[in-house]
Amino acid sequence: MAEQDSTSRIALALDVPDLEAARRLIEQTREHIGVFKVGLELFTAVGPPAVEIVLNAGAKCFLDLKMHDIPATMGRSVARAAAMGVDYLTVHGSAGTDALDAANQAAGSMQLLAVTILTSLDEPSLRGIGFVDGPTPSATRLARLAWDAGLRGFVTSAHECASLRASLGDDAFLVIPGIRPTGAAADDQRRVMTPAAAITSGADMLVVGRPIRDATDVTAAASALALEVGLAFRP
Ligand code: C5P
Repeated sequence: MAEQDSTSRIALALDVPDLEAARRLIEQTREHIGVFKVGLELFTAVGPPAVEIVLNAGAKCFLDLKMHDIPATMGRSVARAAAMGVDYLTVHGSAGTDALDAANQAAGSMQLLAVTILTSLDEPSLRGIGFVDGPTPSATRLARLAWDAGLRGFVTSAHECASLRASLGDDAFLVIPGIRPTGAAADDQRRVMTPAAAITSGADMLVVGRPIRDATDVTAAASALALEVGLAFRP
C-alpha cells in the first residue's frame, strides 16, 4: 500500500487547548495524516469549531467524546454529532445495550466506535473498578455487547486485537490507541504497542497523539509514522 493510502489509517489526536494550536498541528501534518481526532480537551475548550477546522482541511473528523449516558441522552447527543458532519464518534461499550442501541439508531452514516477498555488501564486498575476478568476477556465481552447492538467499530488496545477479530470477524473495524514507536515514552498509557506490531495484530486504524504532538519536528514524525504504517499495511 502506498503512503497515500495509509493516511486514512492514522488518526492524529488534536490534544491541544485552543483552535490556533489545532490549526497548526493540522497544517504541519495534513500531508501524512487523513483523520484528526477532536477529544475532550479541545472540544471542551472550543466546541464545534474544532470539528469545522478538521473538515475544512479536507480530512476526516474523529470526535472522541467517549459518551456514556442514559439511552435518551446518548441518542440525542449522537444525532448532534452526526449533524456536524463528524465521521467517527466514540461511545463507551459499558454504557450498556439500550444506550448503545439508541446511539446506533441516531448515528446515520457516521461510524460509531465502541470504547472497550481504556489503554491506560492495567490489570490492577481494572480490578479496582470491578473488571476482575482482566483486559482481554473484558474488552472482548464489551465489544460483543456493542456488536450485538449493531456497532461495527471498536476502540481497544493492540493486545486485544486478535481476540476481538476471532470473536467478531473481518467486518469489525478496529481502532487502536496506545501506539508508541520503538523507544518512545509510554506516558500514562499501559497497554502499548509499536505501529507496525499493532497493524500485524489486526489494527485497521491507529490513534497517535503525544509521539507526534511533542516531537521536535512534528512534520518529520508524522511522515515517519505514515511510512511505517504504509509499509506495514502492504500485503
Ligand atoms: O498521546 P497518546 O498517543 O497516548 O494519545 C492517545 C489518544 O487516544 C488520547 O487522545 C486519548 O484520549 C485517546 N484514547 C486512548 N485510549 C482509548 C481511547 C482513546 O488513549 N481507549
